[in-house]
Amino acid sequence: MTTWHGLIDSRYRRWLPVTDATPSVSLHEGATPLLRSAHLSTLTGCDVWLKVEGANPTGSFKDRGMTVAVSRAAESGAELVLCASTGNTSASAAAYAARAGLAAAVLVPRGAVALGKLGQAVRYGARVVEIAGTFDDCLRAARELAAHHPVALVNSVRNELRLAGQRTVAYEIVDALGDAPDVHCLPVGNGGNITATWQGYRAYAAEGLAGGVPRMWGFQAAGAAPLVRGAPVADPATEATAIRVGHPATWDGAVGARDESGGLIAAVTDEQIFAAYRAVARHDGVFAEPASAAGIAGLLDRHRRGLLPSGLRVVITLSGNGLKDADAALRGGYAPVETTAATADVARALRLAA
Ligand code: F0G
Repeated sequence: MTTWHGLIDSRYRRWLPVTDATPSVSLHEGATPLLRSAHLSTLTGCDVWLKVEGANPTGSFKDRGMTVAVSRAAESGAELVLCASTGNTSASAAAYAARAGLAAAVLVPRGAVALGKLGQAVRYGARVVEIAGTFDDCLRAARELAAHHPVALVNSVRNELRLAGQRTVAYEIVDALGDAPDVHCLPVGNGGNITATWQGYRAYAAEGLAGGVPRMWGFQAAGAAPLVRGAPVADPATEATAIRVGHPATWDGAVGARDESGGLIAAVTDEQIFAAYRAVARHDGVFAEPASAAGIAGLLDRHRRGLLPSGLRVVITLSGNGLKDADAALRGGYAPVETTAATADVARALRLAA
């Protein structure tokens, strides 16, 4: 068994925009679990797999791109890493900056970031700027700052480095399954991940490493679904805060992934997202953050509408870890049994037979 040292020092290195001069800033991201879901397979009549991206070092898929972006930022002599974020990108940027000995600043929408993500950014030592506005406002400010100041912007906007790193998820999936799946489902916010995942499948197929490519099925929250509407949303609304994005930066990439793959980008309601979030924890033992579950919600929605042929092999990206948003886990419907520490009382509380 070989030991895993992260993406840059893995067999995927040749696909990444690094050279011998690039320092490898890594937390050993990648190589995440690909689990077969017996529950979803039985429910849908498909062969359904979960790519558990919450198992990355900072708890989301963002680490795949951030190892590349921050390694290159360090190589270029940057001193400050900057990003706008709904939470996960900021946690990841802050962690990799800490690892590289760089300063980090993150712009986040005030009151709209899950507590765990904020806690990560703070503890990794980032300067956190809470902005009175949406994620889209944060991103605009970050881009303008980067245009006029010597900072390394690590958002995926015009950041080929992030997307190159995020493509590796497709390589891992094809290597694990022996071929590309028929369908790949995932949540869509700013549009970077559907773009990168599609590019990864295409690159592998172009080199003959996969027999084909999947259809890309992306899902947005109904209150924050600009790509479904075909126009930006000024006031995006969803409890799945990670994907509360009204004006995706990688708009063309996301639409391209949809159209080139013969796929779709559709909306799912918060109710569907949260039902999927609860079900994947309960039935598969995977605690993913709410936005993460949009891919499952979307697959089940297609199934319910009779739009999912049986027998397909489906991979679903679970993009972030449930621990990031423990509040969401306990919201509505937590009923602990309280008792003393006396064994007999505990037995009674558990309704154990005498
Ligand atoms: N899932 C999670 C958990 C996310 O954090 C994000 C994006 C997405 C899905 C959507 O991916 O933006 O590439 O379409 N989070 C960004 C952030 C916006 O700032 O952390 P996308």
